[in-house]
Amino acid sequence: MLDQLQRLSADPILGLAAVARADDNPDKVDLTLGIYMNEEGVCPVFRAVTEAQAALAAAEVSKAYLPPEGVAGFNPGMQALVLGAGHSALVEGRVCSVQAPGGCGALRIGAEIIHAAAPDARVWVSDPTWPVHLPLLGSVGLSFETYRYYDPASHGVDFDGMVEDLKRARPGDVVLLHGCCHNPCGADLSLAQWQVIADMALAQGFMPFIDIAYQGLGDGLEEDAAGLRLLAAQLPEMVIAASCSKNMGLYRERTGATLFLGRTRDSAEALVSQALVAARRVYSMPPAHGALIAARILNDAALGEAWRSELLAMCGRINRLRSSLREKLEAASGRDFAFIEREKGMFSFLGLSTEQAIRLRQEHSVYMLDSSRINVAGVNARNIDYLASAVAKVL
Ligand code: LMR
Repeated sequence: MLDQLQRLSADPILGLAAVARADDNPDKVDLTLGIYMNEEGVCPVFRAVTEAQAALAAAEVSKAYLPPEGVAGFNPGMQALVLGAGHSALVEGRVCSVQAPGGCGALRIGAEIIHAAAPDARVWVSDPTWPVHLPLLGSVGLSFETYRYYDPASHGVDFDGMVEDLKRARPGDVVLLHGCCHNPCGADLSLAQWQVIADMALAQGFMPFIDIAYQGLGDGLEEDAAGLRLLAAQLPEMVIAASCSKNMGLYRERTGATLFLGRTRDSAEALVSQALVAARRVYSMPPAHGALIAARILNDAALGEAWRSELLAMCGRINRLRSSLREKLEAASGRDFAFIEREKGMFSFLGLSTEQAIRLRQEHSVYMLDSSRINVAGVNARNIDYLASAVAKVL
């Protein structure tokens, strides 16, 4: 029976990251996977995480199951982080959340609830979007429509196209939006554009589903959540998938949360009860370690401050790398790369063809996705000149 199954090809992101890891060229540049890397090319552990972890290890007396909603203190901490303490939706008590296994688990639980509420809902996804959105939401049974988003000619958001396409969203449809630091293109909506989306959602009756996996890596924790917070203040219902992978560096600890904004406290609580049943079907309860660490950081003033300042430094470094990369690429190629500085977070498309991305890999050991998505945080002072000259050679 089982031997009928064919071997599948590796995941386009994780598979390519494995190929890059295996390359022993000392000059290789790995810009594949969306993880923050420091100047030494290491994905570091935050100092606040190390400290919280040591305190946890010293105090831990049990590995008994977590309650299905997760670590006490994690959910309120995440709600305040994402929405901002004192947000009207929190004050009105119409926000509830569950801890989930990473941003992927959070998306999946959100999708389960959307499907339970509206099995025929169509989910509108940006063109392009993070490719894993499709299996994560689609395997629940949701179907997709696509809205225009990235304009390769201007290297920015095709907002007119987006609005035109979303005019076709029906009441009960869901619009999946990247809260900030769009993956893969790095082009984000302005606050005025978020307001247009809020007005459309209210007028047409579609519900936003926000994936905010990179809060804190664009302009800062508060700035990056401003669009989502605007929607949450004006719309009756919303689902948010949040992650601590990138902004706390807890990637392998699978730490995330699904937030539900209901019309009333009662409806938000009903959604959480549904989410707990959905989680029981899939993984029973979330893993503890990362959320215990995150809860300590989110609920302790000194640890929280240390974490915020380290995150702000990372965010500043990414933005400085964007400027340096623009400068180096322009000098090496004579072309315009100003868009890299305008984009936010870890990712940008370099605007290369798939053939050029493959040549970079094969001829120069420079690894980026076939779409020419790069992880800007993989650039450093040692590899930036080599990278710029390799890109110029294939252009
Ligand atoms: C990425 O897009 O590289 C990250 O979100 C990691 C992943 O799981 O794909």
